[in-house]
Amino acid sequence: MTTWDIRDSYLGIGQWEREIEHLLDHADDDRVVWNVDDTDTREYDAIFLGGGAAGRFGSAFLRARGGRQLIIERWPFLGGSCPHNACVPHHLFSEVAAELMLARTFSGRFWFPDMDGRITSLKEIVDLFRAGRVAPHAIMNFQSKEQLDLEYVLNAEGTIVGPHTVEVAGRRFTTRKLVLAMGSRPRPFDVPGADLPGVFDYETLVEDLDYEPGDTVVVVGGSKTAVEYGSFFSATGRRTIMLVRDRPLKIVPDGETRRYALDRMREQGVEIVEGAEVTEVVGGPTGHVSTVRYLAPDGAHSVDTDFVFLGLGELPNTEVAAETLGIKLDAKGSAIVNPQMQTSVPDVYAIGDMLGAPMEMFKARKSGMYASRHIMGEDVHYVYDEYPDFLHTHYEVTWFGLGEEQARETHDAVITIKMPPDTEHGLDVALPATDRTMLYAFAKPHMSGFQKLVVDATTRRVLGAHHVGYGAKDAFQYLFELHRRGGITVDQLAEMDELFLNPTHFIQLSRLRAGAADLRDL
Ligand SMILES: Cc1cc2nc3c(=O)[nH]c(=O)nc-3n(C[C@H](O)[C@H](O)[C@H](O)COP(=O)(O)OP(=O)(O)OC[C@H]3O[C@@H](n4cnc5c(N)ncnc54)[C@H](O)[C@@H]3O)c2cc1C
Ligand SMILES: NC(=O)c1ccc[n+]([C@@H]2O[C@H](COP(=O)([O-])OP(=O)(O)OC[C@H]3O[C@@H](n4cnc5c(N)ncnc54)[C@H](OP(=O)(O)O)[C@@H]3O)[C@@H](O)[C@H]2O)c1
Repeated sequence: MTTWDIRDSYLGIGQWEREIEHLLDHADDDRVVWNVDDTDTREYDAIFLGGGAAGRFGSAFLRARGGRQLIIERWPFLGGSCPHNACVPHHLFSEVAAELMLARTFSGRFWFPDMDGRITSLKEIVDLFRAGRVAPHAIMNFQSKEQLDLEYVLNAEGTIVGPHTVEVAGRRFTTRKLVLAMGSRPRPFDVPGADLPGVFDYETLVEDLDYEPGDTVVVVGGSKTAVEYGSFFSATGRRTIMLVRDRPLKIVPDGETRRYALDRMREQGVEIVEGAEVTEVVGGPTGHVSTVRYLAPDGAHSVDTDFVFLGLGELPNTEVAAETLGIKLDAKGSAIVNPQMQTSVPDVYAIGDMLGAPMEMFKARKSGMYASRHIMGEDVHYVYDEYPDFLHTHYEVTWFGLGEEQARETHDAVITIKMPPDTEHGLDVALPATDRTMLYAFAKPHMSGFQKLVVDATTRRVLGAHHVGYGAKDAFQYLFELHRRGGITVDQLAEMDELFLNPTHFIQLSRLRAGAADLRDL
């Protein structure tokens, strides 16, 4: 193991790209990237074990508050799993799914090529991701050193020695506080044959796919990862069978929104088998997966395939910290922390995916920031019991707050404001027409999306907002903030200035109703 001391060098983004690429491709090059300020004699305020979203954002905040920090990261880059194998590839794949749905819907019309019976390459898109993924890594290494003044050691696993000591590359570092930011990993599948070549999860898909999958794909799971990857595989023209042990998309709180999203997936050809239990993954003569056997409510089935994708969720990487430090874990193996991100062990914090669901970037970054604020002496409190959320099918599905069913259970007078206004009697309405759904609105109106506000008619406050379409995430980030800070009413929405055409029609629709003393459905 050699040390590559970069403390006094300036590395540009292009140079970082080349170095990271090299280190990822050459396991025999065991250079440890060493950006430690040995001229600073202060004790570290915090060592962050793990330099993903949680560790990096926590570090940046602590440094900005005048503290001294060190990140220890086993990959040769900062930023963690999101850009390397999780969010970023998924967003590339989801964009491809949306583009292909458009191309297939208008196959042979206008300027669209004839897509009839055409299977597009899956490997080409995975390779495209692999070839470009170090760009954000390079920016984060550069930004963290040159602009955020962070200290870090990369390309070396850190070992926890105690609550105040971590060892890396043969050197022991001591710290006032230790922040665990070690992320999560795919949940393994305990079924015979699940380790055969040709069975992938989100990590191995981008690391190992070295062949073009055939015309049939099996996906196991029914939540975000399974639905997002399943929609992508299906959009490439492959028969896609999703085996869901219970029901799909339970995470989407509003029933009508969930139905719209699932109906559109089925319309695109995704076969969703509810109540399915995989019994065996069978290998062919070469040892590669060839068949999946499963039990469904109507009996036993088998499907021939050379490509299986597991979207079974993630396990927090907490075992080592539990063994070495004794931090307390919950029944799902997540680190238990208080609203200051402190674990059960004094001076040890945990952040990000180690805290369990929801495993999302906002929580990773924000929990890091809150740990640092507390370490630097602030009296802070962070709980993540309510947040805006989203996933992708071939569309983007975005929501916050209560679904209509939940709202009716908990409130006396609930109305909805939605588009199209009457999903029961048909969706063939050219609204909501908006950016990226205009072609659908004119030529395939039922595909132009769905959106809904759930409103308490008594207080006139929005209880929940739900959207299937494109481009609504930004609005939902800010709308949610208004919702959290005491709520937003139909009248306040009616006062806003819309940028028409806009992905959410909530402002203009509310303006149609806001004049009424008694709110009614719209
Ligand atoms: C398929 C998929 C898609 C997703 N899409 C989205 C999305 O669209 N939007 C969203 O908000 N969230 C998404 N997520 C969730 C998001 O990726 C995670 O919540 C986030 O990356 C967690 O950040 P983290 O810092 O906690 O963990 P990571 O980013 O995993 O960082 C942990 C780091 O710790 C390092 N490490 C672990 N142990 C050690 C050690 N002993 N020594 C040194 N380093 C160590 C690891 O190498 C890693 O870099 C997605 C997740 C998946 C699986
Ligand atoms: N924002 C995003 O776009 C995004 C994308 C992907 C992931 N993420 C985050 O990453 C985390 C993981 O998401 P995820 O969708 O992978 O996992 P998840 O939400 O934990 O869902 C796992 C799915 O797999 C099923 N499952 C689990 N074990 C199984 C088994 N042994 N056999 C059959 N089915 C099994 C579950 O079924 P049951 O419902 O019956 O338990 C569920 O459908 C979440 O916290 C999520 O928020 C975010």
